[in-house]
Amino acid sequence: MEYKPLGNTGVLVPEIGLGTWRYRGGVEPLRHGIALGARLIDTAEIYGTEEVVGEALRDCREQVFLATKVSAAHLRYDDVLRAAEASLRRLGTSVIDLYQIHWPNPRVPIAETLRAMETLVDRGQVRFLGVSNFSLQALQQAQAAARHHPIVSNQVLYNLNRRDIERELLPYCQQQGITVIAYTPLDDGRLAVPSSQPRMQVLAAVAREVNKTLAQVALNWCIAHPNVIAIPKSNRRERIEENCGASGWRLSAAQLERLNAAFS
Ligand SMILES: NC(=O)c1ccc[n+]([C@@H]2O[C@H](COP(=O)([O-])OP(=O)(O)OC[C@H]3O[C@@H](n4cnc5c(N)ncnc54)[C@H](OP(=O)(O)O)[C@@H]3O)[C@@H](O)[C@H]2O)c1
Repeated sequence: MEYKPLGNTGVLVPEIGLGTWRYRGGVEPLRHGIALGARLIDTAEIYGTEEVVGEALRDCREQVFLATKVSAAHLRYDDVLRAAEASLRRLGTSVIDLYQIHWPNPRVPIAETLRAMETLVDRGQVRFLGVSNFSLQALQQAQAAARHHPIVSNQVLYNLNRRDIERELLPYCQQQGITVIAYTPLDDGRLAVPSSQPRMQVLAAVAREVNKTLAQVALNWCIAHPNVIAIPKSNRRERIEENCGASGWRLSAAQLERLNAAFS
């Protein structure tokens, strides 16, 4: 597994992590992914998966970079502190490595939310602060509101079929040294299933050339972009293994170009 820097923190994170929205695989597939080097797990207070993640980490907490999220309904100062306490309890840990605002909430001033998030860092309950589903403008407002602890990541939708962030958000994050955590990187499995669609035929041709699966090529395309890591989710041990196999090699510039043209 290859690693990338998390923002400008100097901390390295794996370029393929483990997503857990709608995760129902139990402890074992997560532990298998960790053993294969996917030592970043992403969860959220609203996923209902913090307990199983905590259980999977019981004997290996220090090996894993643990990311969770506060929901948009809990962005008032006291609510953030309470939500973090509850996540820590469910995760069975004393520290969250990356605490992310799940969605922006225009009804709560971002400065109030950031003040609470920074308090959590000062207390040692959180190491780094991130956001999720933040537009360029919302991200810049969050950066301006963060006084002592920077925003190190933005978790957003990004895959071959959904490339909206390439217009302005991705270049901005690359220029600022903010990590983009690509969610739904397999387009909810659609990029992993053979199809007669012309674009999927191009994906299949590239996969044959590099002797990898569709999912591995789709994920490798994501992480070929500077500052981008991806967090596919699977309930199944063998698919987690397959997804981890998206790291450790690179598509050629010509192959990336063909994919970019086919999925434009
Ligand atoms: N911040 C946000 O608002 C937000 C939103 C969405 C997602 N996320 C995060 O991103 C993670 C991943 O996104 P996602 O779950 O929406 O979508 P995804 O990872 O693109 O796709 C998951 C789907 O693909 C299937 N799959 C996984 N690996 C496969 C493979 N190698 N071959 C064939 N099928 C495969 C899974 O089925 P099986 O499980 O049956 O294998 C599941 O149905 C989430 O779990 C969550 O942590 C964040």
